[in-house]
Amino acid sequence: MPLYHKLGKIPQKRHTIFKKDNGDLHYEQLFGTIGFDGMSSLIYHLHRPTQIKTIEEPLDITPKAAVEYNITSRLLEGFQIRPEEDYLESRNTILFNSDVHVALAAPRSSVSDYFYKNADADELLFVHRGTGTLKTFLGEIPFEYGDYLLIPRGMIYQIEFDGADNRLLIAESYHPIYTPKRYRNWFGQHLEHSPFCERDFKLPGNLEAFDEKGEFLLKIKKQGQLHHVVYATHPFDVVGWDGYNYPYGFSIHNFEPITGRVHQPPPVHQTFETSAFVVCSFVPRLYDYHPEAIPAPYNHSNIDSDEVLYYVDGDFVSRKNIDKGYISLHPAGIPHGPHPGTYEASIGKTKTEELAVMIDTFKPLQLTQTALDIDDGKYYKSWLE
Ligand SMILES: [Fe+2]
Repeated sequence: MPLYHKLGKIPQKRHTIFKKDNGDLHYEQLFGTIGFDGMSSLIYHLHRPTQIKTIEEPLDITPKAAVEYNITSRLLEGFQIRPEEDYLESRNTILFNSDVHVALAAPRSSVSDYFYKNADADELLFVHRGTGTLKTFLGEIPFEYGDYLLIPRGMIYQIEFDGADNRLLIAESYHPIYTPKRYRNWFGQHLEHSPFCERDFKLPGNLEAFDEKGEFLLKIKKQGQLHHVVYATHPFDVVGWDGYNYPYGFSIHNFEPITGRVHQPPPVHQTFETSAFVVCSFVPRLYDYHPEAIPAPYNHSNIDSDEVLYYVDGDFVSRKNIDKGYISLHPAGIPHGPHPGTYEASIGKTKTEELAVMIDTFKPLQLTQTALDIDDGKYYKSWLE
């Protein structure tokens, strides 16, 4: 996050003596990415963050490919994913490659008896249903319908849901997730033509330090394994921190659409970027205002990317038979476009209420059995006249 933030108590100068009330020292930790070149935060703990008691056997959660080589357009009915009590068990990877894993989750319960860290990947959660609080060792972020939650790799967190009806779309990115570079100046500030700016971000607050010793289970995802590591002190023992590496939220409802006289290409919807995929937000907006404009998209050959579109709400102009939580997958190598009739029907329309999240990957995606289980199986023929 190219925005300086700080919470709690920190010493005036970094790497200097910082005492507790009883005269003992706090324990400083540099929490950064990309070696020492990426964004980082300096964190002050009550206890050494290194006190491991036991390490138990890991659980292999590597996604398995049911379809390794895919050229079939697919329609996945996302809400058919069964709810599970536990947050981590509820996460079903459906599509993946070596850069990103896309998962759907319907967790019913909050994470309270363990802590979680993804050591390999930034996590981008999109909240389709449910409200609650993301609790991290750098503070809390309340969330609601429409929020993206960006959790940088290494962040220790729990997630608290207010109710049992929750639906999440999750992208685990093995490359850092940033806002698009073209929307930022050379200092990182979002420019005037950006569809969002710093005021729109939900930054962590409510930092609380727990001074507790005992047994604290931290589930750490690394190399496809869920390691179970028991620490001797409470992982949320941070009294203060400052820097640039921290979780944040952003509501899709705060994405200000860029419109034009004729059809605008998908990059105007871009919200996040990585070196291996992009995330776009399709939000309610006015349509193209050229008198002869065709608002529906043209057929296009996304020859370099697999295109995953997650339908959130509203009518989708170019599609038939689409419901909330559906996912279309349009693989690289073949063109795709509006369904028969929708191209013509879009002419003269002045606005759309569609709400969708798109993940375009530069490498092809593989499908898991879970994806096949919710695949309608006939979507690829839906353009036949
Ligand atoms: Fe497309």
